[in-house]
Amino acid sequence: MNKLSLGEILKWEFIRWIIIISGIVPGVVGVGLRYILLRFLIGNSKGFFRIFERVIIEYPKGLNLGHNAGINAYCWINARGGVSIGDDTILGPYCVIHSANHRMDQLDVPLQFQGHEPQEVHIGKNVWLGARVTVLPGVSIGDNAVVGAGAVVTKDICPYAVAVGNPAHVIRMRTESFRPRNTVPRRNRVPGRRKTRS
Ligand SMILES: CC(C)(COP(=O)(O)OP(=O)(O)OC[C@H]1O[C@@H](n2cnc3c(N)ncnc32)[C@H](O)[C@@H]1OP(=O)(O)O)[C@@H](O)C(=O)NCCC(=O)NCCS
Repeated sequence: MNKLSLGEILKWEFIRWIIIISGIVPGVVGVGLRYILLRFLIGNSKGFFRIFERVIIEYPKGLNLGHNAGINAYCWINARGGVSIGDDTILGPYCVIHSANHRMDQLDVPLQFQGHEPQEVHIGKNVWLGARVTVLPGVSIGDNAVVGAGAVVTKDICPYAVAVGNPAHVIRMRTESFRPRNTVPRRNRVPGRRKTRS
């Protein structure tokens, strides 16, 4: 296990305090504050991102966030091995993303002292992770995919897939039900807001 210098310990302590304290600020003010503070702490961001209340990011330098990405309340991201989240991707509340496993080759050394095996996680553009999705180290989720609430993603998920369950498996492709907007018959359209004439 790598020993950290006192300076590094204090630096990580300071960063953790900023993440935790800024995480308790509610509403739009909190989202704005976290954008201002965290864009200097995370590895890279391509533009505005929204991080909601009480999100925990460990090893923030390993996190790359795309433009307009949204991370809902109580998510927990460990970016030790690198985590990238694409443009317009949204995470539901309580999602967990791991990018490192504990090493476990030695039987005579406690697991907590065997170090870590970093494995990068890649989540594409315009992905939706429902509430309480867990993403394991080394997994890639393709652009435009949807992962249902409570899923545990153990293997790669292809673009446009809808996957659910533990382990997550693809139940359908979003492309199957896609119809360009103007081809949906008027009677089947979802009622929207109508202009009222005064
Ligand atoms: C995945 C999801 C988007 C629905 O996709 P869908 O294609 O409309 O799926 P359907 O509702 O038609 O269900 C298809 C099958 O998958 C199952 N299924 C749907 N969601 C599931 C889930 N999260 N976990 C396990 N199974 C699920 C259904 O039971 C159904 O099974 P069956 O064919 O055996 O009856 C939705 O179920 C979901 O999980 N949404 C997340 C909601 C959420 O977390 N919101 C938080 C705010 S970001």
